Amino acid sequence: MLIAGNWKMNGSLAKAADLAECLAQQRLNRIKSNVRVAVFPPAVHLPIVVHRLQQARIYVGAQDVSAHTDGAFTGELSASMLADVGCSMVLVGHSERRARLHESNREAANKYAAAQASGLTPVLCVGETLAERDAGHTSEVVEGQISAVAEQVGWENVCLGVIAYEPVWAIGTGITASPQQAQDVHAGIRQRLGDAGEQTYILYGGSVNAENAQALFAQEDVDGGLIGGAALQAAEFLRIIQLAEEA
Ligand code: PGA
Repeated sequence: MLIAGNWKMNGSLAKAADLAECLAQQRLNRIKSNVRVAVFPPAVHLPIVVHRLQQARIYVGAQDVSAHTDGAFTGELSASMLADVGCSMVLVGHSERRARLHESNREAANKYAAAQASGLTPVLCVGETLAERDAGHTSEVVEGQISAVAEQVGWENVCLGVIAYEPVWAIGTGITASPQQAQDVHAGIRQRLGDAGEQTYILYGGSVNAENAQALFAQEDVDGGLIGGAALQAAEFLRIIQLAEEA
């Protein structure tokens, strides 16, 4: 299991440091945990969070990365810069970036490739809108999002990353996919990945909290969660990690 916290554009330096400190202290007491944990703070908070989590075996990642290696790209951050400050992971293609910043499948694929080239593990976020689900296009949309990356980097490299299935209608809405809905999509992704995908983490995301996590984590192909709102409170995030440990 892998439990990842996406902090989005929330908090302050002091809050990020506090949250990281809280997680670090709790994780140090649970050194035998079989659950991997990652957090994705805002980019400007990465160094302090990396520093606070150094001993705690919690991976730190960025929420986005440039597809380019260096040069005249004002405001962008390259994968090697992220690796340099201690990141080991990065989110790619989050639906908020796809929808609100018009990020395409091709851009996500380029970012994915850039991340892997610098040794970061990309977490590829995929998922359908409500209209796409209602029209019966869920698997087609999800497969298209993953295939666009596979065309760029090859299926074997998709299998080396992490996939987060996050139905757009479930993100930040309080409506979560039912455990069966999640399992159906996850099983489809696993099948598409083939043998090399048996070890690939396929996370579910979208309004996961301490109340609904247990049923989701009980599904065969749900290997953990990408948690947004519920990752901003240490106690709730730690409870979700605990539920993954018990799953
Ligand atoms: P949420 O966000 O848990 O607040 O729905 C999840 C995500 O966007 O990664």
